[in-house]
Order: sequence, then structure tokens, then C-alpha cells
Amino acid sequence: MNTILLASALLLGLFSCSVAFAAPTPFPFPIPYHSFCGTLWLFAKPCAEISTKITKQIQVFSPEYMLIAATPSTIKANHTSPDGSVQNISFSLGPTIQSGGCSVSALSISLGFTSLLDDGLNYCNLNKLLSASGLNTSSGFMELTTELACLGYGTTTCKV
Ligand SMILES: *[C@@H]1O[C@H](CO)[C@@H](O)[C@H](O)[C@H]1NC(C)=O
Ligand SMILES: *[C@@H]1O[C@H](CO)[C@@H](O)[C@H](O)[C@H]1NC(C)=O
Ligand SMILES: *[C@@H]1O[C@H](CO)[C@@H](O)[C@H](O)[C@H]1NC(C)=O
Repeated sequence: MNTILLASALLLGLFSCSVAFAAPTPFPFPIPYHSFCGTLWLFAKPCAEISTKITKQIQVFSPEYMLIAATPSTIKANHTSPDGSVQNISFSLGPTIQSGGCSVSALSISLGFTSLLDDGLNYCNLNKLLSASGLNTSSGFMELTTELACLGYGTTTCKV
């Protein structure tokens, strides 16, 4: 199985509930729906360290990002865009089979109905936390997603 297929399989499993919003309806376009980005991050470091970094970064970015709840295995937050629209953000962390690693499934979803063209907003909500916390350079870091599971992935350059 190649990486893209593996990623789709993983993400469709993980985000099947959210993916339901994006039922492939080619017309009319754009269709109003809750745009979202679901992605999977792998790290060669323990989840405790990863979750601390993500949580701290959310707090540093307050009030743009607001922390709602954090446990060792889940982090919930929201993000408010300059136009006042709000997106829910959640992270679910678990150890990888390979000892000492951490797998993080991350989701950002627009609460209001938006068009399919969200300019990578939800992707950038997650990417901004990843790069600002330095986790994008963490050992063993790898991102698995597809444009189906994450609107704007591969096409958007996020403002830092
Ligand atoms: C975002 O989260 C903060 C902190 O929990 C909360 O006070 C605020 O009402 C939330 N915003 C929305 C729009 O849900
Ligand atoms: C957004 O997050 C709030 C607070 O955690 C929750 O009550 C609400 O159901 C979430 N909405 C969606 C669409 O996920
Ligand atoms: C990590 O993110 C920073 C800040 O956006 C960026 O300068 C750097 O090039 C990124 N590193 C990698 C390996 O992607």
C-alpha cells in the first residue's frame, strides 16, 4: 500500500463522521458545508511531551486560539478568525506501536456553514500550532493526510 492510500484509509477511518459532510457532490459548486481539515501527525517522542507543546502554543496564541480542555490524551480548543468566524479544534493523542512514539489525530472544523473554498483556513489553524511550537522539526515528524480529508492540504501556503 502506498503512503497516500494508507493515509486515506487511516483518515477515512478516523474522520468518517466529519468526512460525511463532504459527500462528493460535484454540482452545484460551491456547496455550503462545514469545511474542515483532518490530519494525522506522527512523532518519535512521547505523547506527554507533544501534548504539553501543543497546549502551551494554544495558550501563547490566546485569544486567537482558546483552550477549552486538555487531558493527556485529548486537547480541545477553538480558533477565531479576523472576520469573527469560529472553528473547533481537537487533538487526540495515543502512543504508536513503535515504543516511545506518539500519533496525533488533529481536526479543525468550521462551525458556521462555509463554502468548499476556505483558503486552507482549517489546515492553517493546525499547521500554525505545529510550526510555531517547533513540532514540525521534531524527530521522526511525519504528516499523513489528503486533500479529501484536509481542505487546502498541498495547495495552501499558511501565513506564519
Ligand atoms: C471558545 O472557547 C472559549 C474557552 O472555552 C469560550 O469561552 C468561548 O465561548 C468559545 N467560543 C465559541 C464561539 O464557542
Ligand atoms: C464545538 O465545540 C463545542 C465545545 O467543545 C461543542 O459543544 C460543540 O458541539 C462543537 N461543535 C462542533 C460542530 O464540533
Ligand atoms: C517549521 O516551521 C517553521 C516556521 O513556519 C519554518 O520556518 C520551518 O521551515 C519549518 N521546518 C520544516 C522542516 O518544515
